Amino acid sequence: MEQREHPDMSNTPVTVLGLGDMGTALARALLKAGFRTTVWNRTAAKAEALVPEGALHAATVAEAVEASPLVVVCLLDYDSVHGTLAPVAASLAGKAVANLTSGTPRQAREMAAWAADQGADYLDGGIMAVPPMIATPAAFVLYSGSREVFDTHRAALDALARSEYLGEDAALAPLHDIALLSGMYGMFAGILHAYALIRSEDIKAADFAPMLGGWLNAMAGAAAGFAEQIDSGDYAQGVVSNLAMQAAAYDHLLEAAEEQGVSPELLAPLGPLMARRVADGHGHEDLSGLVELLRTRP
Ligand SMILES: NC(=O)c1ccc[n+]([C@@H]2O[C@H](COP(=O)([O-])OP(=O)(O)OC[C@H]3O[C@@H](n4cnc5c(N)ncnc54)[C@H](OP(=O)(O)O)[C@@H]3O)[C@@H](O)[C@H]2O)c1
Repeated sequence: MEQREHPDMSNTPVTVLGLGDMGTALARALLKAGFRTTVWNRTAAKAEALVPEGALHAATVAEAVEASPLVVVCLLDYDSVHGTLAPVAASLAGKAVANLTSGTPRQAREMAAWAADQGADYLDGGIMAVPPMIATPAAFVLYSGSREVFDTHRAALDALARSEYLGEDAALAPLHDIALLSGMYGMFAGILHAYALIRSEDIKAADFAPMLGGWLNAMAGAAAGFAEQIDSGDYAQGVVSNLAMQAAAYDHLLEAAEEQGVSPELLAPLGPLMARRVADGHGHEDLSGLVELLRTRP
């Protein structure tokens, strides 16, 4: 494998723009790891609060960018990133910008192009953690964009969380981030509906929780099986529970919700998709074939 030479940046100064809950956790992790850390935040008090921990408080964005070769950005959204960086665009030339602000794949590509126009090297990042998890083994950050920035500043990035590089296209990190969160929220929707059903009788959610957790863990294995069917386009391979049967059983879920006085709104959308796929002649296949109905672009 090709080995690239990178300057030793294990102690490089780092700037953090944005000290909300997440930016503060990132800055603290860098300080703890011994990086010379300059911080800036729109509301200055949050930057001042980190000074006793060793942070250098830059009064302006320009000063903050000037202070370090690596600029980590963690603001509310891409509009605030653009609004913060555009006035100091001229000072970004030659800088490495790691933008860990959540956004969409399109926003990441546009930001990468804008940064390139300013002469900056751009790395996009998706943080797969909540602030207390930062700098613990449970946290990871997905990166995409400049491989050069990722390799050169790996020590600082690794001080935040486990770092995973996905490729040169800046859109890859937010795409994976959002796909993971979509899976998570789908699961949360099911969990909330399940608890609403259980609470419709005199049963404590806590008494049901171990059974639900165990069941979800067992079902998580379906992700790998579905992936094989989706990649091959053969939704009839290895079918254990065919879609026609599942569609019929799903009607019971909706019926039971109504009987128990639980709104079906979190669960309802899957039903018509199953019925459509069965009506299209795919009843003998697996549930995974529903992705064919979800994808509106080839
Ligand atoms: N918290 C999490 O669990 C979590 C997990 C993964 C990813 N993230 C992502 O990390 C990013 C930051 O999240 P957070 O939890 O730190 O949010 P937060 O606590 O609400 O902080 C938001 C930050 O953005 C700044 N900001 C907002 N609008 C601005 C503007 N127009 N110009 C300049 N600065 C502006 C705020 O400055 P002020 O202090 O002046 O208001 C603050 O520093 C978000 O993109 C979020 O989706 C968060």
